[in-house]
Amino acid sequence: MMRKNKYALITGATSGIGYQLAKQFARNGYDLVLVARNHDELKVKADEFKSFNINVIPIAKNLFSEEDAYFLYSELKLNGISPEILVNNAGQGVYGKFQDTDIHREVDIIKLNIISVIILTKLFLKDRLSQGSGKILNLASVASKAPWPWHSIYHGTKAFVLSWSEAIREELKDTGITVTALLPVLYRYRLFQ
Ligand SMILES: NC(=O)c1ccc[n+]([C@@H]2O[C@H](COP(=O)([O-])OP(=O)(O)OC[C@H]3O[C@@H](n4cnc5c(N)ncnc54)[C@H](OP(=O)(O)O)[C@@H]3O)[C@@H](O)[C@H]2O)c1
Repeated sequence: MMRKNKYALITGATSGIGYQLAKQFARNGYDLVLVARNHDELKVKADEFKSFNINVIPIAKNLFSEEDAYFLYSELKLNGISPEILVNNAGQGVYGKFQDTDIHREVDIIKLNIISVIILTKLFLKDRLSQGSGKILNLASVASKAPWPWHSIYHGTKAFVLSWSEAIREELKDTGITVTALLPVLYRYRLFQ
């Protein structure tokens, strides 16, 4: 019997939590759309996941750019792919006093942690609502729960992710689409380069 293709789209799938989640989806028979900036790393991870006998589509995009978020989805549509699962995982932070940190870096972080997330989610919903099924997993953080000096922008973005996820979860409760926010504890500082 032909297997129905069920795609999970995972941003930031080449390392850390995104990579581990991608591995779990692969183990459970999902096809994968992997997104990150680095082409070489994407190819390495795509080759690795193909050993699970699934389809893997690596797409290099920079989600600091809202255009890239839109292009990502239009590329999928052009290829007839309608992911059933969206994992908004890619995220970054910056460490330092707000008076000293680089505003351009902070605007990029807000675009990655918030703007791209809401664009991808909107496009996902437009696609999935008519089909009455779909799952969204948003990477919030324990940082969503409280402000934190020297991490003010990161905590602010994660507070947004949690608040907004809870709100749309309620809006979507009778649609067949679920929204889940994951709040990991900080386990490493690669995020704050
Ligand atoms: N690590 C923690 O302790 C922790 C705790 C709580 C919550 N979280 C949240 O969990 C998520 C993952 O964290 P992590 O530590 O696992 O991340 P990570 O190991 O630093 O990996 C980040 C992933 O996102 C991609 N990425 C980064 N910037 C990107 C961009 N501009 N456009 C597209 N892809 C981009 C990276 O690939 P490229 O560099 O090739 O783009 C990589 O695949 C984040 O949202 C983070 O806030 C993490």
